[in-house]
Amino acid sequence: MICVSKKKSYPKSENLKIFGQGKLNGIVEISGAKNSALVLLAASLLTNEKIILKNVPRLTDIEKMGNILKNLGVNLVERNNKLQIDSKNISIKELPYELVNGLRASFFCIGPLLSKFGEAKVPLPGGCNIGSRPIDEHINGLKALGAEIIIEEGIVKAKIKGKKNKLHGTHIKLKCPSVGATETLVMAATLAQGRTTIENAAREPEIQDLCQMLNKMGAKIYDSGKEKIIIDGVNKLSGCTHKVIPDRIEAGTFLIAAAATSSSITIAPVIPHHLEAVTNKLQESGSKITIKGNSITINPRELKSVDISTAPFPGFPTDLQAPFTALMTIANGKSKITETIFENRMNHIHLLNKMGARIKLRKNTAHIKGVKTIYGMDLVGSDLRSSAALIIAGIIAKGSSKIYGLEHLDRGYENFESKLKILGIKITREFNKNTFTQSEFKGGKESEDTEKYKVA
Ligand code: EPZ
Repeated sequence: MICVSKKKSYPKSENLKIFGQGKLNGIVEISGAKNSALVLLAASLLTNEKIILKNVPRLTDIEKMGNILKNLGVNLVERNNKLQIDSKNISIKELPYELVNGLRASFFCIGPLLSKFGEAKVPLPGGCNIGSRPIDEHINGLKALGAEIIIEEGIVKAKIKGKKNKLHGTHIKLKCPSVGATETLVMAATLAQGRTTIENAAREPEIQDLCQMLNKMGAKIYDSGKEKIIIDGVNKLSGCTHKVIPDRIEAGTFLIAAAATSSSITIAPVIPHHLEAVTNKLQESGSKITIKGNSITINPRELKSVDISTAPFPGFPTDLQAPFTALMTIANGKSKITETIFENRMNHIHLLNKMGARIKLRKNTAHIKGVKTIYGMDLVGSDLRSSAALIIAGIIAKGSSKIYGLEHLDRGYENFESKLKILGIKITREFNKNTFTQSEFKGGKESEDTEKYKVA
């Protein structure tokens, strides 16, 4: 997260202009989960039959994944939030660098391509603003399943060992419950010969959604959502129709925005137990939470400081750490927010301080002393979730703010500003025809990394 420096004018860019001290009111519709839809798109490569995906959010990340699949020869038909995916004619087993570099999740294709063709070439996804994002767990697991893997000039080249064109079942124990590695290995194991067990598997709802779709396709996966997942390989997988689960991170973002503005709203559709860690913390901080079927209503009261430490599901999600930090800047008392998943996911802290927050950052723990008011500023988002945090801060703040770097926001929040506008927030997307200069920005880090936007 960076402020644009005093020294440079900033290139043309879209921004969200937010009038502060807003209130939210009403019901907001939650879109399909980005982090589920992305891996479900990759999983569709595992069959030659048609996959129909419903409730797919319209996001730039989804568009990029769609382009990658089309580049492989997949026939993709999109109608509103429904995608029809037909992979029967794919022939290319190598992903182009320029497409992968824009989307880390494209690495999920390696498992399906390897299982389908016996080989796959996928560029290394690289790091991003929130951390180095290694893929050693993906690689080690694929090797354990019988793949030979070399990394040459930034390309991961995988091949099934020996004459067989099938991976073989095995026992894998992950060193950390990696979401992506669990998904890669589950997908690769569905067409392996024999049984695979994955210990210390990630338990996120998006993994459970993936396993549900794969089982609809004829896979034999047991205990998804538990620490040990069992996959009995099958010969082939068929097509299916699957509805993407609601996005728990988008849902949590709106609940946090409501708590930050003492607004009562309802969010739907959601799967309440996907949000338990978040609703528990919001209740602890003074909000009343009412669950009715697939909807959650929040009625905030006096906002109290609470401590959070991010953790793998079912713990507090790292993707809501930045928005929750924005909330705590105006809570009564002192709070401590610790990021345990990614090594560099506290970039929003110094910008919130520029808005008047009182946060001391020690390693990956933010020590926050609540203040009465924070003040609107023009700021630049540098990754998906901290951009959302800045928008929440802009809604809370006194005065108006302009939030730049919307290419990050548009990766993960469908129609975010329209949904906020419907809830009563004064927010508009502006496209600057000309550049703007230092007078619009106060202070901030050098802008040498302004251009270094990477993909989270
Ligand atoms: C997924 O990323 C999500 N992305 C992230 O959401 C989310 O923050 C993350 O899971 C954690 O919940 C998608 O699903 C597309 P990990 P992923 O592998 O799979 C270490 C968002 O904002 N690790 O669970 O990349 C890694 O360094 C994005 O929507 C290894 O050491 O996350 C990290 O510290 C951001 N070796 C930890 O595990 C590996 O091989 C968690 O990473 C893989 C990961």
